[in-house]
Amino acid sequence: MDNFEFKNPTKIIFGRKTEDEVGTETKKHADKVLLLYGGGSVKKSGLYDRVVKSLKSAGVGFFELGGVRPNPRLSLVREGIAVCRDRKIPFILAIGGGSAIDTAKAIAVGVPYRGDVWDFYDNRGMPEEALPVATVLTIPAAGSESSPSSVITNEEGDLKRGLTTELIRPVFSILNPELTCTLPVYQTACGAADIMAHLMERYFTNTARVDFTDRLCEATMKTIIANVPRVLREPENYDARAEVMWAGTVAHNDLLGTGRSGDWGSHMIEHELSGIYDVAHGAGLAVVFPAWMKYVYTHDIARFAQFASRVWNVEIDFAHPDRTAIEGIARLEGFFKTIGLPVTLRELKIPGDRIGEMADKCTLGDTIRVGNFVKLDKKAVADILTLAI
Ligand code: NZQ
Ligand code: ZN
Repeated sequence: MDNFEFKNPTKIIFGRKTEDEVGTETKKHADKVLLLYGGGSVKKSGLYDRVVKSLKSAGVGFFELGGVRPNPRLSLVREGIAVCRDRKIPFILAIGGGSAIDTAKAIAVGVPYRGDVWDFYDNRGMPEEALPVATVLTIPAAGSESSPSSVITNEEGDLKRGLTTELIRPVFSILNPELTCTLPVYQTACGAADIMAHLMERYFTNTARVDFTDRLCEATMKTIIANVPRVLREPENYDARAEVMWAGTVAHNDLLGTGRSGDWGSHMIEHELSGIYDVAHGAGLAVVFPAWMKYVYTHDIARFAQFASRVWNVEIDFAHPDRTAIEGIARLEGFFKTIGLPVTLRELKIPGDRIGEMADKCTLGDTIRVGNFVKLDKKAVADILTLAI
């Protein structure tokens, strides 16, 4: 196990009707907020009205900015920065999923910065300060509700890039599983793939002797595998919704990555897919991850066999552990298919003609290697995308 420091300061307020606490909780930090949300699901579900009522009764003023799109765009971030500066708004409250939350985080680092906020996503600087951010989460998926990351798409060049800094972990996040009952089936499934991916990015490591965090990752994956089909069969099943929601947060709050290096190659490759083709992040991962696994599994067959055995209950073939490993990958792919996700680029309606361009962008013109478990150059990224066709 590697040395590590772990601190996750996001206060989680979990359970039925907890969104009613948003006003009093926000008031502890600010009297005025920017209220940020997406394309309208929060209005349709009634969440917006309940949040506004709670803010008003706690005496918190707000200015609202809606219209955050999935794969959130830089232009709206810039609009939010201007609003906060003009109105001297010191706090940002996102209600929605990863896209609204990541936009809030980008605005938070952009407001106190004299330069262009894209500098932080383009590796041209790191923020030194940020406005506080809080969330009311409506979809278990990205884990942004307690992560130190924000992922934004720059429309110029179709560049989807991330920023990671402790400054942007939300101060509090409200998680009411009831709010996820209105999710379309496809979004629930995409969220499940993203959660699985956050666990697998940490699971496939070169760090030796990490049995405790292996077991935590395996337990969290098994929770998703058991409960997502339940949620899809019975959308109103609170208990199953609660399991998925909490697992989604724990999968990406950094606890499960303590003492081990993560991979993150599949995420880097997927960001090129959503950057150009605007596909849902989870759907892109359902396509990329199995292809990545087929490409790298010989690097550590024992680890892939462990994944197959412990997570998917595959009987270990001691004479041919490679067969066990391959069966584990097939079970993952089968799981994605049963919950209605694509597992090929073709199913995502993505042709193979821009694979070279995506591999080039992903590796910054073949100047960097992506991933840690196996370091991938431009050709390797292209080969993985070709396997995914
Ligand atoms: O926009 P609205 O109308 O709200 O609809 C959303 C959106 O269309 C809808 N939705 C969300 N909650 C709903 C609902 N519809 C009905 N009922 C509800 N309760 O779902 C759609 C997807 O929303 P979005 O916020 O885009 O989903 P998600 O949470 O999956 O976020 C995806 C983004 O997060 C980034 C991804 O790259 C992607 O851009 N990620 C952020 C990370 C982080 N900050 O730590 C890590 C992740 O790996 C990921 O990269
Ligand atoms: Zn993800």
